[in-house]
Amino acid sequence: MSFPIVRHRRLRGSAGIRGMVRETVLNPLDLIQPIFVTFGTGVKNEISSMPGVFHFSLDTLKEEVDEIASLGIPAVLLFGVPETKDAVGSSAYADEGIVQEATRLIKSWYPELIVIADTCLCEFTDHGHCGMVHTHTAADGTVTGDVMNDASLALLARTAVSQAKAGADIIAPSNMMDGFVQAIRSGLDEAGYEHVPIMSYSVKYASAYYGPFREAADSAPQFGDRKTYQMDPANLREAIREAETDVLEGADMLMVKPALAYLDVVRVIRDQFDLPLVAYNVSGEYSMVKAAAQAGWINEKVIVLETLTGMKRAGADMIITYHAKDAVRWLRE
Ligand code: PBG
Ligand code: ZN
Repeated sequence: MSFPIVRHRRLRGSAGIRGMVRETVLNPLDLIQPIFVTFGTGVKNEISSMPGVFHFSLDTLKEEVDEIASLGIPAVLLFGVPETKDAVGSSAYADEGIVQEATRLIKSWYPELIVIADTCLCEFTDHGHCGMVHTHTAADGTVTGDVMNDASLALLARTAVSQAKAGADIIAPSNMMDGFVQAIRSGLDEAGYEHVPIMSYSVKYASAYYGPFREAADSAPQFGDRKTYQMDPANLREAIREAETDVLEGADMLMVKPALAYLDVVRVIRDQFDLPLVAYNVSGEYSMVKAAAQAGWINEKVIVLETLTGMKRAGADMIITYHAKDAVRWLRE
């Protein structure tokens, strides 16, 4: 009796053979660790909704960067929480802005560590939107507003140039205005930074998974929401159009964000475009895993490595993840 002829379990019999037939391997070199930098001194505050993730001031930042560099993580993604906010996000493009200062420090400590600067205005505007707004106040005091596309582009380009000037290796615009890649590309080129690549947040959905980040970055919109510029979670064909535009405008890398609920989008963008592709394992994805792990409901290590492997299997070349430091430790065990 020779049934069954095909036995899949033959290739699962030992760790050795499973390793040999493994199709997707997570590599520490694929991971990017986000960092939140804030004003003040002596700050190392845990973000309550993101256990294990902290705000650092410039004087406490080195311990975090030392750890990331010693783990062999190749890149960090910088977010800034400025001391002052205004309607036009001035501190986003100030030469002494928090992201610019942090960039200079990190590059002086670790010239080889890749510094990626998130280019957006929402952490720096008092209204919390990713561009300039035109507000309307109704008779009952209700404030509404439109996010102005073309007026915002100049400020975003200015932000990117100041980040490149501070030494950022990669500019990562997350603002979702139309034409932002082109505006930033020409801004960089005109300022002599034609060699600095753009990692575009090409396919960015209007997602509730950003909730913990908005607490961390103090960047929640003060009125309305981001649905007039970030994508509708229901749309896949539109993701292709977004990516196509960014390619035509000169993006060097594409991104899909969030990752977990959008792995079909990662696969489609991987199959249709040849640019390096980043998946952003966002704050809400991180917080859900942390909460369940703290409750003892899941095995955090196995879940995290399984999730990140799934993102690679879906087609991501790189993953931005708040789990990066832990994941690298676990991969090396
Ligand atoms: C800024 C920005 C956001 C994230 C990255 N850059 C927030 C947003 O668009 O509201 C989200 C990151 C995360 O949730 O981890 N535009
Ligand atoms: Zn923004």
